[in-house]
Amino acid sequence: MNMEKDIFTPLELGEYQLSNRIVMAPMTRLRAIDSIPQSIMATYYAQRAKAGLIITECTMVSPLSNGYMNCPGIFSDKQVRGWQQVTEAVHSQGGRIFLQLWHCGRVSHPSLLNGQQPVAPSAIAGQGTLHTPMGKVNLEAPRALETEEIPEVVEQFRRGAIEAKTAGFDGIELHGAFGYLIDQFLQDGSNQRQDKYGGSIENRTRFLLEVVEAVTEVWEDEKVGIKLSPSNTFYGMYDSDPKATFGYAIEALNRFKLAYIHLMEPNPTDLTARDVINPVLEVFRPLYKGTIVTNGGYDKDRANTVVANGDAELVSFGRPFIANPDLPQRFLVDAELNTPNPKTFYATGAEGYIDYPTLQ
Ligand SMILES: Cc1cc2nc3c(=O)[nH]c(=O)nc-3n(C[C@H](O)[C@H](O)[C@H](O)COP(=O)(O)O)c2cc1C
Repeated sequence: MNMEKDIFTPLELGEYQLSNRIVMAPMTRLRAIDSIPQSIMATYYAQRAKAGLIITECTMVSPLSNGYMNCPGIFSDKQVRGWQQVTEAVHSQGGRIFLQLWHCGRVSHPSLLNGQQPVAPSAIAGQGTLHTPMGKVNLEAPRALETEEIPEVVEQFRRGAIEAKTAGFDGIELHGAFGYLIDQFLQDGSNQRQDKYGGSIENRTRFLLEVVEAVTEVWEDEKVGIKLSPSNTFYGMYDSDPKATFGYAIEALNRFKLAYIHLMEPNPTDLTARDVINPVLEVFRPLYKGTIVTNGGYDKDRANTVVANGDAELVSFGRPFIANPDLPQRFLVDAELNTPNPKTFYATGAEGYIDYPTLQ
């Protein structure tokens, strides 16, 4: 009998037995009032607990890492207690949940940082706009971190990892994607430093590896994942040789026995912005020896194919999970999917958040 793998084939992820290979992708939803996770977030995540693994929205590791209003943090007791309700709710439904640790770097604004200037590898502004208490603003040039300041930023990730344990998470994912701080260090369009954190690819990867080392001192390697987006052009991200840069970083990650790397394929705007690596998986799968979560525009059939071919072990779904709390069940019975409403992605309250219907 041909025992072909598909997204319903259970997977051992370190000590965890995932009941399926359907991962809920990290998604910012901005329902954390004053950066504190609310009970509505516990409801939202618990509704989605049938995913093999949930990865939370990006969560700031320090006050200076905030890029969005009502984004959650993990650096105060109140925030940790807020997250405890979430992990308890997910666990009570038999789910598994990793916290996505994040520093926005240059993708911020003084009005979100108590008047302080955002920090980044170099004083190069990202492109695009941001919602702030003053309305929509263009991204401005950040302040370049001094070499001596960088260990403290690494420390913030370590502390975030410790607090994630206190909050009851099953593991953590580092946000190394989408043009935020770790990505800004990696790519030469945003990193033009002259010290040991800039210049050569080895140097640009140093920050990422120091963060991974710090958090794997807190968590076993097998409970730490990292998300990378080699083709992402969001906020003006650019690298002169992304195959070499991300290839080096991904090969360097082999030395850890991480839970997974989470690789994002280009989204439609990346494809129109410039010539990017597409598909990402084809270039980087051969370089990575561990588990890969692939992401970006998957439907059930494509997800089954990528798992059956062994090109990735897990597939994450973003927008489909917003609108379909019972996505695994719908996939199982080939039910129609609800359509997500982008107007409520970043809104407030229950609408478009916890009120999408399930099959029953
Ligand atoms: C509303 C929304 C918020 C998102 N927030 C995050 C985030 O906080 N962290 C992250 O790594 N990716 C974030 N993403 C990207 C998703 O994780 C995913 O990479 C993207 O939606 C592509 O997957 P999909 O085609 O299945 O939606 C977000 C996407 C959406 C739609």
